Order: sequence, then structure tokens, then C-alpha cells
Amino acid sequence: MPEHSKFLLADSQIPSVWVNVLPSLPEPMDPPLHPGTRAPLAPQDLMPLFPMELIEQEFSPKPFVDIPGEVMDIYRLWRATPLYRARRLEKLLDTPAHIYYKYEGTSPAGSHKPNTAVPQAYYNKRAGIKRLATETGAGQWGSALSLACQLFGLECTVYMVRVSYDQKPYRRMMMHTWGAEVFPSPSEHTNAGRGVLAAAPDSPGSLGIAISEAVEDAATHDDTNYALGSVLNHVMLHQTVIGQEAKLQMEQAGEEPEVVIGCFGGGSNFGGLALPYVLDRLAGKGPRIVAVEPAACPSLTKGTLAYDYGDTAKLTPLIKMYTLGHDFVPPGIHAGGLRYHGASPLLSHLLKLGQIEAKSYRQLPVFEAALSFARTEGILPAPESSHAIRAAVDEALLAREEGRQRVILFCLSGHGHFDLSSYESYLTGKLQDYEYPGQDVARALAEV
Ligand SMILES: Cc1ncc(COP(=O)(O)O)c(C=O)c1O
Repeated sequence: MPEHSKFLLADSQIPSVWVNVLPSLPEPMDPPLHPGTRAPLAPQDLMPLFPMELIEQEFSPKPFVDIPGEVMDIYRLWRATPLYRARRLEKLLDTPAHIYYKYEGTSPAGSHKPNTAVPQAYYNKRAGIKRLATETGAGQWGSALSLACQLFGLECTVYMVRVSYDQKPYRRMMMHTWGAEVFPSPSEHTNAGRGVLAAAPDSPGSLGIAISEAVEDAATHDDTNYALGSVLNHVMLHQTVIGQEAKLQMEQAGEEPEVVIGCFGGGSNFGGLALPYVLDRLAGKGPRIVAVEPAACPSLTKGTLAYDYGDTAKLTPLIKMYTLGHDFVPPGIHAGGLRYHGASPLLSHLLKLGQIEAKSYRQLPVFEAALSFARTEGILPAPESSHAIRAAVDEALLAREEGRQRVILFCLSGHGHFDLSSYESYLTGKLQDYEYPGQDVARALAEV
């Protein structure tokens, strides 16, 4: 019998719904608050930023939401994504564990981000919006939204975190190719950006600052809305195509995961894979679920569960989440997509309820795992995704120590073809390991 390493689905097996965990939660989430009045947010408060259909999804009580036909037509360009068994990595680790990964890097933009960019562009187009403004960290979300806007005939403005803008010129060119305009953030184009530059002309930027710029841009232009690539409930909802497909593919492989792992920036690839398994847990049986974040920006493992702003300039609603403080500017680690001070409020709630776990790693051990993966499985992973690889490798090594088989499933959220300068730094011994910036976090948390 040949050894199967790749598990594929037919187009007819691509999920036709997104699954929503909100109605199954044992305790309801705390509501978002209006940044001015601190009263619970009413759906219409979000109308300057989002179209009504997305606002409804944000608070939806329905267990399933149908995926529109025009979105399905685009999903079929790359979905279903493959599930692989990492047999060569298992061999290298000499582990009895079976390691599976769901590979989202086969999308045109190279990550899971188009799963939500496409529906967000679709609903905005239907609402008559002409332009979307957004932020991007690593450039993955900005590219995904640029592509989605191009496909639906919308304009797109991307505020790209300065450190990534400099580290990743080719991501910027990809966005230009798909027709977007891209500004380094902090920029001179918004009050929020000018304010940061006045205080810190050399600011490396952060997702929190770039979000302030994009939100201000959208709120001050009638024909423009804002799009967020992570954190919010409707983003988590759209990403559940990942976990739904993975469940079918694990069935094909004839195994059940004992542990499910994803890297964590705002939570969308992790939530996308994990939430269908969270539903199993809430129904009484399901795997352990582990979120993996950078030690330099550890919102889940070192943050506080509190109401905080999603951005630096305090323009967004207050959301209850694990946060390092909206003023916190993380060190310029190479996993730019994980440099966010907060976390999805839904996943924060699930962490508080004990339904998921969290751990953090420094970037050197993460790159070490990325290289082992690239040299055995062939795929050159994104630095963000490599956090999940590190955790999967450690689970597999633990299985070896304990001398027992275990099935591990992780999300490989994207490829690292535009992250080669990070690989160069690592391979030439220049990559630094950042300490946990405890004093900066304490200072930022004092403002929450
Ligand atoms: C490849 C990749 N993985 C993960 C992330 C983190 O985002 P999230 O936590 O929303 O999945 C990013 C963000 O840019 C990314 O580019």
C-alpha cells in the first residue's frame, strides 16, 4: 500500500456554510462598548465602518450562515486547501506522533486571509461602497484585501506597518499589482499617523497604529468602509471553512486529532481551524486546542483580560479581550502578522472558559523549527505559521519522550516566499531573540 501524505477534497465538498459558535457558548460574551459613551454598542454604531450584512454576522445568533454563491465561485479558485501528513518531519523527529497540517498557503495571496477578504469585499460592494481602507502587518492581509477588492471592482487603501513596509517590498508590489495604494504607517495621511510621527519620528509602527489610520480614513470618507483582517467575530466566522474542511480530511485519513494548534496574531487562522473543534468540545468531546504567540508580543499568556481599544488612537469600540495595552508597540520581530496588542474577544472568552490553551515562543526556536519543516516537507513557511510548527514539533517530541502515539493537527497559515529577508537574517546568524518587554507592557497596561 502506498503511504498517503496528501488528503484532498472535491469542489462539491467545499463547505457551503460558515459555522458560528456564538449561540453555543455556555456563557455569553461581554458586549463591545461605544468608545465615547461606554454603553453597549448598538449595531448601527458600526455603520460608519461596516456594511449591515457584516454587522449582523458580528452578532449573529444563527448556528450557520450560508456562503453566498459569488463568494463560493471565488473560493473555488483555491479551496479546498490540502491537508498533509508530515511523514518526513515525523521521521526527522523520530517520533511515534502523527503530524498533520492544513495548508492555507495555496491561496493566490499565500495565506488564509482571502477566506475573509473575499466575503468582506463582496458585502461592501453590495452595500454600494466604493473603497475599502485597511491596515496590514506582514502584508498578507493587505495583499488578500487588494486581490478581493480587485475582483469586486473596489478601490483599496492599505496602511502597512513601517517595519514590514521596509522588510517586505515585494508584498507592497503585489498589492500594487492588484491595484491598491499602500502607505507606510505611521503616515502623514491621517491625524492618527501624524500624531505618532510627531512623538516618535522613527516609530516602527504597529498594527494598533495602522488600524487607527485605516479607521480614521474610513470614518472621514462617505464612500469608504473599513475592513479588518482578524479579531472580529465575522472574521472568525468566515475562517471556519478551514476547520470544516480539515475535519472531513482527517476523517479521510482515518484519524482524530488529540491536539489542534494554530499561531495567534488576532486569532483568525487559529480560530478558523479550531472553532469547529470547539463546538465538539462544547458538546462534550473534542481535542486540546493550543494558540501559539510570540514571546515578544504575548497578549494571551501575559496580557490582561480587560476592555481595551483595538487601536492606538482609541477610535475603535472597546472590546473585552486579552490585551497588552493599546499603546504597546511590540519589538520588530519578523512575524509581523503577530505584532498585535490585543486578541479576538471570542477566543479570549474561550481562553477564560478553559476551552483553549495558549503558549509563547521566542523567534529563534521558531525559525529553527521552520528550517526543519522546510528541509523535510519542502514548504518554506511564513514566520507567523512557524510558531505553530514549533509547538507541533514540541508536542511530537513529548510523544517521543512518553513513548506513545498521538495525533497532532496544526494550521500552516501561509508560505514565506516574501519573508526571505527573515530567513537570510536567521541563516547568517543575525536574527535576534527579543526578551519579553515587561516594562513596556506594564506602562501600556496602566493606560487600560
Ligand atoms: C501567514 C500568517 N499567519 C498568521 C497571521 C496572524 O493573523 P491571525 O492571528 O489573524 O491568523 C498572519 C497575519 O498577517 C499571517 O500573515
